[in-house]
Amino acid sequence: ISVTAIVPAAGVGKRMKSDCPKQYLTIAGKTILEHTVHKLLACQHITEVVIAIGQRDEYFADTKLGKHPKVSVVDGGKERVDSVFSGLTACDEEQWVMVHDAARPCVQVADIESLIVQCQQSNVGGLLAAKVKDTMKRSHANGLVESTVERENLWHALTPQMYKAGELKAAIEDGLRKGVIITDESSAIEAFGLPSQLVEASSENLKITQPEDLALAEFILLKQQEKL
Ligand code: CTP
Ligand code: MG
Repeated sequence: ISVTAIVPAAGVGKRMKSDCPKQYLTIAGKTILEHTVHKLLACQHITEVVIAIGQRDEYFADTKLGKHPKVSVVDGGKERVDSVFSGLTACDEEQWVMVHDAARPCVQVADIESLIVQCQQSNVGGLLAAKVKDTMKRSHANGLVESTVERENLWHALTPQMYKAGELKAAIEDGLRKGVIITDESSAIEAFGLPSQLVEASSENLKITQPEDLALAEFILLKQQEKL
């Protein structure tokens, strides 16, 4: 099996409040984007990494990622889904693609590989996910508790998320037309009526979002590199 990875990296990182987009912040020795792409390149089955970067990006060139023979670049779009779609336009319909957020450098290579194995064996697309640990509440708009949500079958949706390029493209096009809120690939696939399987992964795979996430992510990356 050969898999093309698409890395949406065209966000501005508003919630991080840093001078540059968060994917270009350096932690544990290299930029967050480099950590992320190096994790993907460590998987044998990933033969190509397509990075969607901002149209006025001033930082990507400094990473030298563009010089890697397996890496190519496309223009990102207004929303995450637009950046993903831009990466998909370059892919063959039958090609397996895996979308992975630039902001998730802490993903474990073994988890990426288990997603690939699961999807290949069942021929069904899917996503990495982590079981919810806290008791979950649904609230009224005023902040009072309405009820406790049964936790048994609740998961955090992570990335990578892996589908056939043609199916994902059709699902996104259809979702955008119908006004579906597409926050991840699976939400488009589900709304389109296609199956999507959850593959349990380590909750280390956090999405770096706010300043306080940086120290934890650095700790996890150093631990993975056995420098702790
Ligand atoms: N992303 C993208 N194109 C966009 C918006 C987001 O490629 N138009 C990417 C981000 O670079 C990130 C991933 O999608 O790797 C997940 O998005 P998020 O964590 O929300 O990042 P930002 O949108 O950059 O952050 P914020 O929402 O705080 O502005
Ligand atoms: Mg965002």
